[in-house]
Amino acid sequence: MNWQSEDQKYVWHPFTQVKTEKSPLLITHAIDATLIAADGKKYLDCNSSWWVNVHGHGNENISDAITEQFHQIDHVIFAGVTHPKAIELAKRVCENLNNNLKKVFFSDNGSTAVEVALKMSIQYWHNRNENRNRIMAMQGAYHGDTFGAMSVGERDCFNVPFEPYFFNVDFIPFPSKEEERTILEQAEELLKSNAYCCLILEPLIQGSAGMRMYSVEFLNELTKIAKKYQTLVIYDEVMTAWGRTGKLFAFNHSDVQPDIICLSKGLTGGVLPLGLTIATQEIHDAFLSDEKAKAFLHGHSFTGNPLACAAACASLDLFEESETWINIEAISKRNELFYQKIKNHPNVSDARFMGTILAIELKESNNQGYFSEKKEIAYHYFLENGLLLRPLGNVIFINPPYCLTEAEQNYIFEIITKFLNQLNEH
Ligand SMILES: Cc1ncc(COP(=O)(O)O)c(C=O)c1O
Repeated sequence: MNWQSEDQKYVWHPFTQVKTEKSPLLITHAIDATLIAADGKKYLDCNSSWWVNVHGHGNENISDAITEQFHQIDHVIFAGVTHPKAIELAKRVCENLNNNLKKVFFSDNGSTAVEVALKMSIQYWHNRNENRNRIMAMQGAYHGDTFGAMSVGERDCFNVPFEPYFFNVDFIPFPSKEEERTILEQAEELLKSNAYCCLILEPLIQGSAGMRMYSVEFLNELTKIAKKYQTLVIYDEVMTAWGRTGKLFAFNHSDVQPDIICLSKGLTGGVLPLGLTIATQEIHDAFLSDEKAKAFLHGHSFTGNPLACAAACASLDLFEESETWINIEAISKRNELFYQKIKNHPNVSDARFMGTILAIELKESNNQGYFSEKKEIAYHYFLENGLLLRPLGNVIFINPPYCLTEAEQNYIFEIITKFLNQLNEH
């Protein structure tokens, strides 16, 4: 079979301008941090297959857990029915959160985890007969592609056709170090109206905006201000959780806690789709009533899928092993060293790192954002050199699986350096 022509005939790929983009790479196998193409060529998975694959491909613990689960119960309705793996996962995630987040709602992906968080917050106030109908988010945010998630995200070229259908959101600016104080004051001015049902944030790092990072102090302060005015605080940790920032959750760097957290991507080790929205007992209890309509009337066919829950429990087992944390620490250290080397490169306008994430922003004469020409040039340069590294506009970044070896990471840095050095030739 000519897979490439059959792909062209039958498949509609995401985030792809089919008319102008080259046909997709055909990957047939994967092991650890390596993807293997149909022609045998190997690629390092620099972005963990859309930021999900935390332990590497083909992990035996995860594979065994899924197989074992399949022979017990593969899938079952989750309303009126429960099963041991969902219960185990919910308990263990709450224990890992180690805070006041106590009730786990299951869905399928990051967007649905966010959608659930927004609906929960809105209905929380509705059930309490309190009129809070405003929502606060941050400019540059990405929370997913469903309508609620898009509404609280950056209003950019990605969603122009849909904008007329979005609900109103008040966006605070992204906090550069110099503007933090002013933005906090602006936010407080709005929040003190007591009209806000929730504030949603990607804590510390805005992923899709180009791995943009802001300070722990800002996160602490803004969260405290929102809580002062009883606004529910949602942390979207879909990208930042599971060791990415050097700790299990990004909020572990701070001294504050959200009222709701959204988890997905690396939750199952990145091998099966699963989303979790975890809320406080107080939020949960606002849905208890003799009126049936006060329940959270939301769900998805694959809610609490047992195979995904088994994969997630196996992934939690791996996070209990010191080797995982040694690897995270080693990747983070090497990122820092490379950051020091590269930050003043003449073709770099900014570089930043946190934990296993390293981002390098390329200088551009005219800011073309996501559609930067440099993105295409970089992407194909990296492919030719055996790296699957998909830049975000003019931002080259890595967030690799934690099994990445030192030699592999050094090779990535070598190719990035070569790319930066030859950029002027284009
Ligand atoms: C912070 C954040 N929230 C939500 C999402 C949406 O997740 P999904 O693509 O699984 O719907 C993403 C995806 O990149 C994300 O980075």
